Amino acid sequence: MNSQSTEHPKPRVLIVFASWHGHAREVAEKMGEVALANGADAEIRDASETRGDEKSITTYDGVVVVGSVHFAVHSRPLRRFVRRGLQHLSRVRSAFVSISGAAAALDGQKQAERYIQRFLHATGWKPDMVFSCAGAVRFTAYDPITRAAMKFASRIAGRGTDVSRDYVYTNWPAVHAFTHDFLDMLERSKAIAGSTVALA
Ligand SMILES: Cc1cc2nc3c(=O)[nH]c(=O)nc-3n(C[C@H](O)[C@H](O)[C@H](O)COP(=O)(O)O)c2cc1C
Repeated sequence: MNSQSTEHPKPRVLIVFASWHGHAREVAEKMGEVALANGADAEIRDASETRGDEKSITTYDGVVVVGSVHFAVHSRPLRRFVRRGLQHLSRVRSAFVSISGAAAALDGQKQAERYIQRFLHATGWKPDMVFSCAGAVRFTAYDPITRAAMKFASRIAGRGTDVSRDYVYTNWPAVHAFTHDFLDMLERSKAIAGSTVALA
């Protein structure tokens, strides 16, 4: 745990996201709102704009990495951020939020878990917490080809196909609960770090 943790009264949380059509960004922003509402300092950053900033990871108490799955993988900027920041990530509390269409289906949970394991294997990262989060179908944000492909996929999956609107499958109370659990973990870590310093 970083040495600044014991000096900073509020937990400091960095939320890094990667998003194609905006849903992972929305989840990251929701987590940031919950963190702020619960007395933490939260900073939200796009993974594609973090190059060279990995060292700053250790100035936070906790880092949450939020990314969506496209064509069975998480985005390259997200992989790069975690790979480059690996050493620093191991010194703070961390969580991975993986957003996918698979996580929205009862029979998709194992597939969603495979996406997560693939990302963790590719990066070598061992986050303290992992959340498999159902995503959204944002017909209004897609180009015509993506819209047609997603309409077909949605029909096959038995989901809504009205392309004039979006379908959000995310369980927002679960996003809130996960953020609370993460903040609780940070508080416990800070309390332990504080008592260790006091004993020393
Ligand atoms: C072009 C495209 C490809 C996708 N591929 C997958 C996939 O392989 N597996 C999956 O579970 N979900 C897949 N999804 C669903 C996304 O993970 C889901 O829509 C998510 O909310 C997207 O978040 P974003 O708006 O941050 O990109 C795909 C979505 C799109 C638009």
